[in-house]
Amino acid sequence: MCGIVGYIGKREAYPIIIKGLKRLEYRGYDSAGIALYDGNDIKLCKTKGKVAGLEEKIQQEITTDGTLGIGHTRWATHGVPNDINSHPHYSNSGNLVIIHNGIIENYDALKQELIKRGYSFKSDTDTEVLVNLIEDVMKKEHIKLGKAVQVALNQVVGAYAIAVFDKNKPNEIVVARLGSPLAIGVGDDEFFIASDASPFIEYTKNAIYLEDEEMAIVRRGKDVKIRKIKDDSLVDPYMQELKLNLEQIEKGGYEHFMLKEIYEQPRAILDTFRGRLKTDQAIIKMVGVEDNMKKFLNANRIIIVACGTSWHAGLVAEYIFEDLARVPVEVEYASEFRYRNPVITENDIVIAISQSGETADTLAAIKLAKSKGAFVFGVCNVVGSSIARETDAGAYTHAGPEIGVASTKAFTTQITVLTLMALRLARAKGTISSSDYRHHLIELELIPEKVEKALQSDNNVKTIANIYKDAKNCLYLGRGYNFPVALEGALKLKEISYIHAEGYPAAEMKHGPIALIDENMPIVVIATKKGHYEKVVSNIQEIKSRKGKIISVVTEGDTHVKELADHVIEIPETLESLSPLLTTIPLQLLSYHIAVMLGKNVDQPRNLAKSVTVE
Ligand code: F6R
Repeated sequence: MCGIVGYIGKREAYPIIIKGLKRLEYRGYDSAGIALYDGNDIKLCKTKGKVAGLEEKIQQEITTDGTLGIGHTRWATHGVPNDINSHPHYSNSGNLVIIHNGIIENYDALKQELIKRGYSFKSDTDTEVLVNLIEDVMKKEHIKLGKAVQVALNQVVGAYAIAVFDKNKPNEIVVARLGSPLAIGVGDDEFFIASDASPFIEYTKNAIYLEDEEMAIVRRGKDVKIRKIKDDSLVDPYMQELKLNLEQIEKGGYEHFMLKEIYEQPRAILDTFRGRLKTDQAIIKMVGVEDNMKKFLNANRIIIVACGTSWHAGLVAEYIFEDLARVPVEVEYASEFRYRNPVITENDIVIAISQSGETADTLAAIKLAKSKGAFVFGVCNVVGSSIARETDAGAYTHAGPEIGVASTKAFTTQITVLTLMALRLARAKGTISSSDYRHHLIELELIPEKVEKALQSDNNVKTIANIYKDAKNCLYLGRGYNFPVALEGALKLKEISYIHAEGYPAAEMKHGPIALIDENMPIVVIATKKGHYEKVVSNIQEIKSRKGKIISVVTEGDTHVKELADHVIEIPETLESLSPLLTTIPLQLLSYHIAVMLGKNVDQPRNLAKSVTVE
């Protein structure tokens, strides 16, 4: 959570860092801070609140010259969000300055030890403990910053991506990583440091992603030296060429990233199956699946691990894998799976789904599954992310950067990848007839066009949003493939509008939630033609007789539900198995418009962060 950014080189560091912090703000936004160094004085400014507030404070408090700088945008773990707990943090001598993303689990024991040795602390953070631990090691062992970082980190339990500099060493920044991402952009006699590559994309396309338990010293005008934290041994740096471009991380005329990303879905889905789906030849090509086909064919079951929206995509995949490929599937919250002592065998395949590829619980679930001998397949969006690297094989969703904190295009592209996988496996196993298989390919290829059509419901959805924006509660109902979509619709509404919402399988309503229904309760019901239509219509009747307000997502041309529901939103017809790719669109738009009408911060909802790197 937290975003870190740094620069050392020949340019002024300030504009690079402040712009970088804005791009990383999706990672956490309860406080922000910066430290600049011009070789004489360190100028440090930090504040509770967003980067925009930091900018104002900087104008009043510090000068912004200096070709070395570090900055931080925070999602609080230890210590409430306030000015003092914001990063960067000084060491007691005032010589060292640090920024940190992660959690130092044994910080309290280390702190008590340092207090005994005469150190004092201004903040409640684990980070201030770390910077003083490094200082203490430097003093005790008479060593320089780089070596002291290595020694100190060997005493630390937890997760971190850090950047730290020493006033006495104006030409270097030391960085290290365990569990939290850290990229180094390598320019001409200059280096950029960031939690992801977005802060430096316009300056260089060359990046080194540190691996876990690695650290680096970046020196002005010199090569990067990467070392193993454990034993200080040198590692050969692996330089990657970035494919990301600037337009992908900007709003492109939309009011919010979330809206832009909702509207990007036709393109994102197309990019996700491009090169993989070859309808004319009736083939699906996925290298990660192809290379491991034997394992997929022999799998006793598939276990899907994920969190949040990605977990909902996993639930959709459960229907499609079982339906088409006839393999048992279990879908687990990664946070439960990792602590549950699960029964896993070598014949299990674990599929880990994650947009960011950095979610701590999912990463831990992967490590657990690997330790028990399972083959782990990753479905990630962020190229080169920790989960992409930790898994045995995988397939990327090609959604492009998702910046809005609420997942939208990540969800539909995850479903696209998982659908391709299920179809490929079903074909290999012979559990799908060739006509059914072809039919699926043809329909899948039409999905981007149909998503485009579903997006045309926007004005209608906006009108409905205006009617229900003041609701205190909302129910979402769906059956079969669209039960997970109901869960996802409810999550979207909760997280960005702060309206309480619950998703249920429509038939479960009579086992409890029906008691909530009265004339004030809006109920969103997914009632597409091919998905248990008659049964859902009966559920709608039950709601109607209790005076609930019905907003129904229906197949184009439906007249029956129109008579029963208060509002209908039409989407194009498709196969039931592909319908989540369409039914989810109006639900995303509904929560978006309600949140905007309520004046909420759609892209950065309270208490959330895009990349959850703590458990
Ligand atoms: C909801 C949302 C979260 C994420 C969850 C997992 O809109 O964004 O629920 O889906 O934190 O994140 P990833 O997919 O990055 O592992």
